Amino acid sequence: MKPKIFVTRRIPDAGLSLIESRCDTSVFPGDLPPTREELIDLVPGIDGLLCLLTDPIDQKVIEAAGDNLKVISSYAAGFDNIAVDVATARGIPVGNTPGVLTETTADLAFSLLASAARRVVEGERFAREGKWKTWGPTLLMGRDIHGATLGIMGMGSIGRAMARRGAGFGMRVIYCDRSPGEIETQKFARPVSFDQLLSESDFLSLHVPLTGDTRHIIDEKTLAKMKATAVLVNTARGGVVDHDALFNALKNGIIGYAALDVTEPEPLPPDHKLYTLTNCLIVPHLGSASVATRDTMAVMAAKNLFAGLDGEQLPNCANPQVYE
Ligand code: DGY
Repeated sequence: MKPKIFVTRRIPDAGLSLIESRCDTSVFPGDLPPTREELIDLVPGIDGLLCLLTDPIDQKVIEAAGDNLKVISSYAAGFDNIAVDVATARGIPVGNTPGVLTETTADLAFSLLASAARRVVEGERFAREGKWKTWGPTLLMGRDIHGATLGIMGMGSIGRAMARRGAGFGMRVIYCDRSPGEIETQKFARPVSFDQLLSESDFLSLHVPLTGDTRHIIDEKTLAKMKATAVLVNTARGGVVDHDALFNALKNGIIGYAALDVTEPEPLPPDHKLYTLTNCLIVPHLGSASVATRDTMAVMAAKNLFAGLDGEQLPNCANPQVYE
């Protein structure tokens, strides 16, 4: 009998077709994620779950799936939406898709940085709205990227990819990370304290996972230590930034600009006060959204799923301690 798989949304065919060819697959229809209640209704009896970062895979959902559940495979690198400790306690490996999206996410982080620096989105709106009457001697002046200081918080693989981009654009790169940076990185990026990172960065790019320690690490106090002209770039997780504090900082000139790929909550409601600010650029969590990367993520997620179903070690596992 084919294993029963629930896929919480249609993922690219590159991975989905593999799953459908091997498994009795049910895919949640539509463009919106299932609610927690829908998940609880739909997962009982499945052998494998393929989920997305939008799905709250908490204790209730994992328990609702029942004893057949052999693997949870997430189509994402981050797994803060999954109760990994609960899965581990039940002997269920959790798969994720790290690595493949490193360069793609850094591409977006740098695009946000550049767009914010040179006010690309404001300029586009200005032209489109018919406000472009002449070349303006002081029109929409932004900040130089070259020569500026790029601060990187979290020097994991995406942080390092961002550092390389910064160095390539002639930026001075500094970073703060709890674990010592790699030698390769230190050729063009200098480690500094968190306070120095905040006070010296012209552009501060966040690349830390969301944990108890990093939740709202960018808050009223830390924002107050940044330059009044600083640009904050977040492609990590929305919860790393206190959005009320960010709004106040942007509105009151405590910092200059924010460019956000991730928000808290997601999606950010259309009436959210951050949308009222012209110095805040928001895109809908597009970090890994290139065709090639999303195809590869789908294949990786399928391979993690198959390994879990076959009782083999997942090629990419968020809770390797499950094998101890
Ligand atoms: C991830 O996979 O964690 C990314 O945030 C997706 O863009």
